[in-house]
Amino acid sequence: MNHKIIIIGSTGGIGQALFETMSSDNDVSDIIGVAHSKNADFLIDYYDEQSIFNLAQSLREIEFKPTVIIVATGYLSDSINRPETQISQFSQERAHENYTLNMIGPSLIAKHLLPLMPRNKDIYFGILSAKVGSISDNKLGGWHSYRASKAALNMMIKNLSIEWKRKNPLSRIIGLHPGTVDTKLSKPFQRNVRPEKLFTPERAAKQILDVLLQCPAEHSGSLLSWDGSIITP
Ligand SMILES: NC(=O)c1ccc[n+]([C@@H]2O[C@H](COP(=O)([O-])OP(=O)(O)OC[C@H]3O[C@@H](n4cnc5c(N)ncnc54)[C@H](OP(=O)(O)O)[C@@H]3O)[C@@H](O)[C@H]2O)c1
Repeated sequence: MNHKIIIIGSTGGIGQALFETMSSDNDVSDIIGVAHSKNADFLIDYYDEQSIFNLAQSLREIEFKPTVIIVATGYLSDSINRPETQISQFSQERAHENYTLNMIGPSLIAKHLLPLMPRNKDIYFGILSAKVGSISDNKLGGWHSYRASKAALNMMIKNLSIEWKRKNPLSRIIGLHPGTVDTKLSKPFQRNVRPEKLFTPERAAKQILDVLLQCPAEHSGSLLSWDGSIITP
C-alpha cells in the first residue's frame, strides 16, 4: 500500500510501539515521529498551537503527504492529580489539563494536518480515545475530567468525519480504544486488571493498526475497540 505515516506521541507507551511496528512494515514507505518532550523528528506541545502550525509548515516544505496519521497522545493522571472519584475533587486545573491533552490537542492536530492528507485516495486518521468516554457504557462513574474529555473527543471525531467526508469520501477518521495497555498512563490502575486483559504495548499497537487500516469508510466517525467492535457513544 506504500503508506506515508505520522505518529503523534511517538515516544509514549503505545505511540512508541506503533512507531516501531510501522517502521518495520513493508507497506510503509515513510514514517515520521512527532513527540512532546523527547527525541523525535519533530517536537510539539498541545499548549502551544504555533508548534503544531510549524510542524505542518515543515511537512509542506518537504512535500510530505501522509496517508495515515495516528494520534497516540493523552493524559489521565500524574503524581499530584489523581482521577476524581467525587465531584468535590473536581478542579479547573485538572479539567483544563484533561481537555487540553485529550481533546483540544488532537483537534489542533486535525486542524493543521488533515489538510495535508490526499483528497483522492484512502486516508486513515486514528485518534487514541477510550471506552470510558462512552456515555451509554458508563456504569461506574468517577474519573470525571478524563471521561468528559474523552466523550468530547469522541464527539469531535464524529464532527470531523462528517466534515471530511465531503472533501474525501475515502477518509476514515476514527477513535480507537486500545484496551488496557501496560504503560505509564495505566500503571497506577492495573491492580484489578486480569493478566490476560493487560496488553503489552506491542500487542496493542498491532491490534490498533489492524482495526484502523481495515476500517471501511462507512465506519468513519466511530469509536472502535481493539477487537474491531464499534463502541456505542
Ligand atoms: N494505556 C491504557 O491502558 C489506555 C487505555 C485506554 C485509552 N488509552 C489512551 O491511549 C493514549 C496513549 O496512552 P499511553 O498509555 O500510551 O500513554 P503515555 O505512555 O502516558 O503517553 C502519553 C503521550 O502523550 C504525550 N503528551 C503529554 N503531554 C503532551 C503535550 N503537552 N503535548 C503533546 N503531547 C503530550 C506524551 O509525550 P511526553 O511523554 O513526551 O510528555 C506521550 O507521548 C491516550 O490517549 C490514552 O487515553 C490508554
